[in-house]
Amino acid sequence: MTLANGRHYLAIPGPSVMPDRVLNAMHRAAPNIYEGELVEMMPGIVADLKAIARTTAQCAIYISNGHGAWEAALSNVVSPGDRVLVLATGRFAYGWSEVASSLGAECDIIDYGKRAPIDMAQVAEALAADTDHRIKAVMAVQVDTSTSVRSDIAALRTTMDDAGHPALLMVDCIASLACDDFRMDEWGVDVMVAACQKGLMVPPGLGFVFFNDKADRVRETVKRVSHYWDWRPRGFEEPGALWRYFDGTAPTHHLYGLRASLDMIGEEGFENVLDRHATLARAIWAAFETWGRDGPLELNIKDRALRSHAVTSLRIGAPYGDQLRDWTIANAGVTLGIGLGMVEANDRGTAGFFRVGHMGHVNAHMVLGMLSSIDAGLKALGIPHGKGALDAASTVCAAAAKSR
Ligand SMILES: Cc1ncc(COP(=O)(O)O)c(C=O)c1O
Repeated sequence: MTLANGRHYLAIPGPSVMPDRVLNAMHRAAPNIYEGELVEMMPGIVADLKAIARTTAQCAIYISNGHGAWEAALSNVVSPGDRVLVLATGRFAYGWSEVASSLGAECDIIDYGKRAPIDMAQVAEALAADTDHRIKAVMAVQVDTSTSVRSDIAALRTTMDDAGHPALLMVDCIASLACDDFRMDEWGVDVMVAACQKGLMVPPGLGFVFFNDKADRVRETVKRVSHYWDWRPRGFEEPGALWRYFDGTAPTHHLYGLRASLDMIGEEGFENVLDRHATLARAIWAAFETWGRDGPLELNIKDRALRSHAVTSLRIGAPYGDQLRDWTIANAGVTLGIGLGMVEANDRGTAGFFRVGHMGHVNAHMVLGMLSSIDAGLKALGIPHGKGALDAASTVCAAAAKSR
């Protein structure tokens, strides 16, 4: 007998749950790529993506995952020998800096550890020390998916402005876009990278690079931009023929999936999408904080104000992390995320850690079911834990529903 059969829930921080509406939109015969619906859909897709990024900057779309978007963004900004400042709040900033290094950039890394956001004082110091303005770009990850910390991007821009430093501000929103508040233009972000498989609820395969005019002027200084990653002409309003958006065959079915997801976000209302993420995150935190009162479970980020609304990283101690993950897969049909990069910067420390993804197509019953599955796992495995976690989570959902 197993209690795992039924619809499986992938509660990991991406790829996220794909709505039936997205999958159904993709389930179709090969569309005409020369003219008609698909070609006509493109300007609307680009406009809706920009609205979600809250920008009037350009948006280039790539057939790629997040690593591709990382490389695309950097390929238009750095030449060998250029210097970049990387603000590391977890594993993913290191990943992005590895791409920068592979393109020949010199990376100065400020490591804030695994439990803290960007400390602006250290950024100010690093920028002040760069008197000849060699740093071409400051690279930050809004929500590092390994630690689940969220950094203050608006404050980072203020810090750069106060230092009078001309570097580009480049931000990875791969985990946070359409889950946590992000305002590209208002916050003065020059380049933003994202991907489709998290808040946008589409199967992995599309990477996005948003870039403003300042960033495009920097592109002029790059000695050699590789053909595929060039953000021109993809980024410019109406490249015209579909292949020009993608430098080749378009990701036809992904575009239908993306159209459906953007429609869903539009129908719910973008602010409501963000509110839903914030409320469900609070329900999850309430449960984990309660379990953590008695036993080894601990939220990686102590301060609620610094936690992402898309992903939550947990510490539980080895071997409990792996045991709990194995238990919920085998007995409840729920896959929790592995711990990532928690032991050493380049290590996949999993045993004592796990993560919960709550991005995209997620509602109260999914979150409450996932938390109940963890509750059952803690009991079955004899892992000590505080009592009342489910009550705490459902109270958050009840209060939010009442206030509508
Ligand atoms: C914040 C962040 N940046 C970059 C990536 C890399 O994206 P991908 O795995 O699609 O290459 C991820 C993936 O989880 C991520 O969470």
